[in-house]
Amino acid sequence: MAKTLYITGASSGIGAATAHAAFAAGWNVGLMARSSDKLEALVEEMGDRVLALPGDATDLAAQERAVAQTVEKFGGLDAAFANAGMGVKAPGTEKGDPDEWRRVVDLNIMGLLYTTRVSLPHLRRTKGHLLLTGSAAGRRHIAGSIYGATKWFVHGYAGNMAEEMREWGGRCTVIAPGMVDTPFFDEAKPDKLQAEDVANAVMFALEQDPRATVREVYLMPTN
Ligand SMILES: NC(=O)c1ccc[n+]([C@@H]2O[C@H](COP(=O)([O-])OP(=O)(O)OC[C@H]3O[C@@H](n4cnc5c(N)ncnc54)[C@H](OP(=O)(O)O)[C@@H]3O)[C@@H](O)[C@H]2O)c1
Repeated sequence: MAKTLYITGASSGIGAATAHAAFAAGWNVGLMARSSDKLEALVEEMGDRVLALPGDATDLAAQERAVAQTVEKFGGLDAAFANAGMGVKAPGTEKGDPDEWRRVVDLNIMGLLYTTRVSLPHLRRTKGHLLLTGSAAGRRHIAGSIYGATKWFVHGYAGNMAEEMREWGGRCTVIAPGMVDTPFFDEAKPDKLQAEDVANAVMFALEQDPRATVREVYLMPTN
């Protein structure tokens, strides 16, 4: 039977590229993000092994509904990819915008915790796999970066979840890319990583034998 993957932040960039890669590898995919038009376009492109789940990842009830719909349509959940995230436009602690910090913490930390919370009961049944999008900014220090600090949370939590999940045969992977050419940035970055490169890293971790856990994929542009 085909395996099932739930992805947040699936409407563009790394999430959308991972949806394509997983679909091509035979997976069923549940796509969560706010832009229902973009999710519907992905469903139209790929077909009925893909499900659009419009919603806000910072809303626990919305993620509960999205995972429930995924499980109902495909019969279970084998992997969840907490990938939705945003950057900080106004840099620094003295000059930054506290309202923006709250939105960033809400999505990059709380949204990711919600994905984990609603997925875990299903993943326990399948001895499944949790993947979290960290960042190169979550494994080295960047002067004053609040965005980077949210990713340090992701890296710490991913290690802790790997230890918890191994107790029942589950796996947890943090995906840590450097700069990727996605709508995350206002300008194109054609000479940096492409979203497909990161999707390949996700698929590498997902498709290992269950005895092998890829704890982290640290992927940098070569230049
Ligand atoms: N690009 C890079 O260089 C880079 C490097 C390292 C790590 N990352 C991380 O990679 C992840 C994906 O980013 P990306 O580069 O692929 O950028 P992106 O194309 O901007 O993707 C962000 C995704 O998150 C979704 N999203 C934003 N707010 C949301 C919310 N409240 N609820 C649900 N979904 C929401 C967006 O869709 P909607 O707007 O439709 O909701 C979109 O699908 C993020 O966690 C980012 O921090 C990026």
